[in-house]
Amino acid sequence: MKSEALARVASACITAVLAAQPYSTWMTDSIMAINVPKTRYYTEATFYRGVEYVYNATHDEKYKWYLSSQIDAILTDNGSFVNWNPNSRQLDSIRVGETLLFLWGQMGEERYRNAIAFLHDELLAQKRTDEVAFWHKDPEYPNQQWLDGLFMGDTFYAHYTALFEPTNQTAWDDIVLQFDLMEKHCRDPKTGLLFHGYDQSHQREWADPVTGASPHLWDRGIGWYFMALLDVLDWLPQSHPGYEKLVNYFTSLAKALRKSWDCKQGGWWLVMDAPYPGMKGNYIESSGTAMFVTGFLKGMRKGFISRKEYEKFTLKAYDIMAAKFVGRNETSGALTWEGTVKVGSLSGNATYEYYIDQPIQRNMLNGVGPFIYASAEIEALRGQLQM
Ligand SMILES: *[C@@H]1O[C@H](CO)[C@@H](O)[C@H](O)[C@H]1NC(C)=O
Ligand SMILES: *[C@@H]1O[C@H](CO)[C@@H](O)[C@H](O)[C@H]1NC(C)=O
Ligand SMILES: *[C@@H]1O[C@H](CO)[C@@H](O)[C@H](O)[C@H]1NC(C)=O
Ligand SMILES: *[C@@H]1O[C@H](CO)[C@@H](O)[C@H](O)[C@H]1NC(C)=O
Ligand SMILES: *[C@@H]1O[C@H](CO)[C@@H](O)[C@H](O)[C@H]1NC(C)=O
Repeated sequence: MKSEALARVASACITAVLAAQPYSTWMTDSIMAINVPKTRYYTEATFYRGVEYVYNATHDEKYKWYLSSQIDAILTDNGSFVNWNPNSRQLDSIRVGETLLFLWGQMGEERYRNAIAFLHDELLAQKRTDEVAFWHKDPEYPNQQWLDGLFMGDTFYAHYTALFEPTNQTAWDDIVLQFDLMEKHCRDPKTGLLFHGYDQSHQREWADPVTGASPHLWDRGIGWYFMALLDVLDWLPQSHPGYEKLVNYFTSLAKALRKSWDCKQGGWWLVMDAPYPGMKGNYIESSGTAMFVTGFLKGMRKGFISRKEYEKFTLKAYDIMAAKFVGRNETSGALTWEGTVKVGSLSGNATYEYYIDQPIQRNMLNGVGPFIYASAEIEALRGQLQM
């Protein structure tokens, strides 16, 4: 009952706000104005994906020029990366490849193409487990595959393959296999959600003796994975035997996520496994929530889940999320994004205490980006912008 009322209030005030300016562009403009560091790091690249969404919807050139000016600061004239660290090879470094593919598609400049080729080489040179899953980070996290990595590396791998090697079956099989292995080790039969990662060598103290999986369901990890499934399905040929499999991974996860939405709080908990939802220190976290809402919206747009079943729920989840986590700076008029946890990693002991101890940060781009994706999707759905 309480959440019904909240949803009504939220819809009322958001409609008023949207009439003035859509959240997608408003949030993007607000974040652009506060000087996002010019790095090649995945956190910035997660925001850049939002800028790309907004460019596609508005065709306002300022968004394209913004992305090229951010990226040009990290490339030399011939497209090699400045400050590349050859001693740590990690999937996180591949994420910016999606932004490069976008810029190359828009501008056709050779240095972007060179940078793309370099990232592809780096990805293929990444060490792998015995079952040939990419390590998340070498040398730091040997034999570990994390949910995060599918969004960081596999989406670029699929996009690249679709553009440059569309008939390379070896590559497509390899891309699908990364999801198969994640499913094999981390899907939790009890909840239908996935544990954050696994260590195939079972060396880490947190590794389950049978599966190697880490012990907790972390919202943002699951969010990366949920979005990665859809982004890879944008490129994977429908004729590939993995296509139906990935659709099933997505739809079963969508079902489990819908069930784990807390209808009293109107969102998803940071640590999602029982008995932690509602427990002291745990909270409704905004980046995972935005990623799940994005997945539901895009999943409906692509026809993988039905509007009949999901639309009402998703609109409500979006409105409550926006009411809870969008703030406004009264001096500048800029929007802020609240409630996103700064980090969650398997580098430590992976306990409940570890996850809840991590700080929450305003305007954290891992949450801002997905909120922009969700906003662009919902505005298109509500007929406010063309996609
Ligand atoms: C934007 O459009 C380009 C070109 O059509 C496409 O490749 C890209 O995936 C789109 N990006 C998003 C975020 O929808
Ligand atoms: C690109 O330029 C950098 C120096 O700016 C140089 O170290 C590198 O070898 C060049 N790469 C190619 C492929 O020409
Ligand atoms: C096909 O993909 C595999 C794996 O990504 C790669 O090693 C191989 O070089 C590719 N082959 C061609 C002809 O591009
Ligand atoms: C609000 O905006 C003003 C003016 O741009 C800025 O000085 C201030 O730091 C902002 N406050 C917060 C909390 O972001
Ligand atoms: C795990 O690490 C957290 C800090 O991140 C600490 O508070 C907690 O006591 C540790 N737990 C164990 C069992 O070592």
